[in-house]
Amino acid sequence: MKVSLELLSIIPAQSIDLPEIENLLDAGFGPARRNRTAYRLRDGAVADPALSFVMRDRGRIVGSVQCWSIALRGRHDLRHPLTLLGPVATAASHRGQGIATQLIDRALAAVDAGNRPPVLLIGDVGFYGRFGFSADATAGWQLPGPFAADRLLMRGDAGSLPMTGNIEPAIPVRRAA
Ligand SMILES: CC(C)(COP(=O)(O)OP(=O)(O)OC[C@H]1O[C@@H](n2cnc3c(N)ncnc32)[C@H](O)[C@@H]1OP(=O)(O)O)[C@@H](O)C(=O)NCCC(=O)NCCS
Repeated sequence: MKVSLELLSIIPAQSIDLPEIENLLDAGFGPARRNRTAYRLRDGAVADPALSFVMRDRGRIVGSVQCWSIALRGRHDLRHPLTLLGPVATAASHRGQGIATQLIDRALAAVDAGNRPPVLLIGDVGFYGRFGFSADATAGWQLPGPFAADRLLMRGDAGSLPMTGNIEPAIPVRRAA
């Protein structure tokens, strides 16, 4: 369905939106999405409400972007804050019209305006390169699960970040023994 983007509104995601966002993500990625490595970084965490947005068309959520606080643990266990962007999804009926682009632009503008930590994501450089993401700084970083190195992308100044380290949730999750 072709819609005029001017008629759609981007608004901050609220906790009441979560069930609808979850349905959109299930439709976009399939229910197995929860096995993805990115989920181990946001397990039990809440998306940052200042950096997460939805787009609505006549009340229905047709696009969503969420961001999370994570960290890169480098030498001497020093933890460097990062922002995890994703998942991003657009309803199948509304793809190819710039909705994801607008949502990502909005989230990144909020990151910049709030002077928030550099942004990391796991995704295709073919799509995310246009927003300034690349794998240039991430070759020595590990995730808590399998991932393709060329899909670990960062945007922002990596100058103060260690070249090697482990990406973790902002607050390490303690699992039962
Ligand atoms: C990927 C997705 C979010 C794009 O949403 P969208 O609203 O259609 O995106 P936009 O309209 O802003 O941008 C579409 C552009 O991105 C391109 N694109 C989409 N996915 C891409 C990918 N994986 N690699 C390269 N380019 C991609 C499209 O070809 C199109 O290019 P164009 O602008 O040159 O025509 C949507 O297809 C989706 O929800 N897919 C399922 C979930 C998913 O894969 N999410 C992203 C991974 S984190």
